[in-house]
Amino acid sequence: MVPSGPLPGTCQTLLLFLLLVCCLLSPGSQGQQFPLQVQPQDPVLPAGGSLVVNCSTECPDPKLIILETSLLKEPVGDGPGWAAFQLSNVTSDSRVLCAGFCNGSQMISSSNITVYRFPDQVELAPLPPWQPVGKNLTLRCQVAGGAPRSQLKVVLLRGEEELSRQRVAGEPAQVEVEATATVLASRSDHGASFSCHTELDLRPQGLGLFKNTSTPHQLRTFGFLGPILNLSESSAPEGSIVTVTCMAGARVNVLLDGVAAAAPGQPAQLQLNATEIDDQRSFFCSAMLEVDGEIFKRNRSVQLRVLYGPKIDRANCPERLKWKEKTKQVLQCQARGNPAPQLHCLQKDSNLEVPIGIPVFVKLKYNGTYHCQASSSRGTYTLVVVMDVQGRNHPFVTIFMAVLVIVGLVTVTVALKYLYAVKRRGIYKVNPESSSLPLTSMRPIEAVAEEPS
Ligand SMILES: *[C@@H]1O[C@H](CO)[C@@H](O)[C@H](O)[C@H]1NC(C)=O
Ligand SMILES: *[C@@H]1O[C@H](CO)[C@@H](O)[C@H](O)[C@H]1NC(C)=O
Ligand SMILES: *[C@@H]1O[C@H](CO)[C@@H](O)[C@H](O)[C@H]1NC(C)=O
Ligand SMILES: *[C@@H]1O[C@H](CO)[C@@H](O)[C@H](O)[C@H]1NC(C)=O
Ligand SMILES: *[C@@H]1O[C@H](CO)[C@@H](O)[C@H](O)[C@H]1NC(C)=O
Ligand SMILES: *[C@@H]1O[C@H](CO)[C@@H](O)[C@H](O)[C@H]1NC(C)=O
Repeated sequence: MVPSGPLPGTCQTLLLFLLLVCCLLSPGSQGQQFPLQVQPQDPVLPAGGSLVVNCSTECPDPKLIILETSLLKEPVGDGPGWAAFQLSNVTSDSRVLCAGFCNGSQMISSSNITVYRFPDQVELAPLPPWQPVGKNLTLRCQVAGGAPRSQLKVVLLRGEEELSRQRVAGEPAQVEVEATATVLASRSDHGASFSCHTELDLRPQGLGLFKNTSTPHQLRTFGFLGPILNLSESSAPEGSIVTVTCMAGARVNVLLDGVAAAAPGQPAQLQLNATEIDDQRSFFCSAMLEVDGEIFKRNRSVQLRVLYGPKIDRANCPERLKWKEKTKQVLQCQARGNPAPQLHCLQKDSNLEVPIGIPVFVKLKYNGTYHCQASSSRGTYTLVVVMDVQGRNHPFVTIFMAVLVIVGLVTVTVALKYLYAVKRRGIYKVNPESSSLPLTSMRPIEAVAEEPS
């Protein structure tokens, strides 16, 4: 099927262009001697604008000078060797072609039209009603429109100071874009004017640099100065007086561990005689400020270290231990203090050390009195521990066993002596004459040796 309607404009242009290119490239083409000129060359014009394009040639007898374009065109005059056309409502970049014939040869030339447009909107997003000092403030500049985007930049400003300059990415130009910059708000920013502007740089096209500026916004800041919470001494020796102070800026109410300041803007303070239980104690201060009916709160905490000790509690270190020999036992003893003390238990005279907190195999020599000493840079503390190590068997049992053994031995000896005496008498009775009886050989040698006694 062949399309019945006329070819679309771009298709037509393309066909014509290809046709013309073929003709131009054919050898001996006379058109090349008399080029066709397009005036103006590569013009830049505001979006929606109009311009006159003049196609002219030196060819003595040119024919059919035309302008090929998808834009709205209207002939506005012609003369020998030229034809002019008015283009209107030019809203986007485009390419126009002049074509004609010279002595039967095709002439062709083109020009690129660049359209520029200023942004429709350059707006700095509203600032917060009150900005806390020391917090980041994000500035947002919203830009709609603007072309060509490759030549458009957004600048964010504090007064005259440039905070950020960035290219506007994104085509088409209708897309709304946002440029941001972050500033750390300081006290001096109170009352500062923030704004943004766009820069459309058409200097390469000989037109200049065009700025569109947003309405400025004034920043109002408020500061807390903290709250500042400090200790007169962060590591205080036990028994010394520590002062805790919390303060914030003017008009700020502070509350330190439940103690309120006398008036807004005044510091809150408390004092204490540092004791062991105050070690690692935290102090909490909260500050509150009301600005334009809005309440801002901040808080801080600080920890106190108290230097004390060393100390050993009886509850944590027994006075007397009764251990059995050859059993496994653990010597439990704890010392406390800041800085953490070292603890050793040494036998009074021998200086034998029994390890603390780990299982030990009890030996008899452990029996004795021990000095358990905790030491740190703040001094030493000693506690006496008596260790009573009992042997495996009770002394009574040992004595009883010894008596039994002795009695047993005596009994056996007596019995043996008696038996021997009986035996000797029995031999004489059986065979008094003969000395060659086999029985004699069985007599113990000792007995023979003993005989004369
Ligand atoms: C077109 O260009 C020719 C040659 O330069 C000139 O003579 C003629 O006046 C121009 N026409 C217009 C309308 O500018
Ligand atoms: C100009 O062109 C735009 C689209 O390209 C169209 O919407 C608008 O109506 C045109 N304006 C005139 C006056 O022809
Ligand atoms: C502020 O933002 C910058 C980066 O933009 C960051 O490095 C900085 O830590 C931020 N400061 C605060 C107080 O949030
Ligand atoms: C604690 O703060 C007060 C008031 O700002 C100041 O005078 C004092 O020197 C500070 N003390 C310490 C130890 O920082
Ligand atoms: C702190 O308290 C201890 C014990 O109650 C006391 O001996 C010491 O004198 C006190 N220190 C001061 C500076 O009052
Ligand atoms: C203290 O401030 C932090 C953040 O600033 C907040 O998360 C916390 O809840 C506050 N604590 C109290 C007890 O107000």
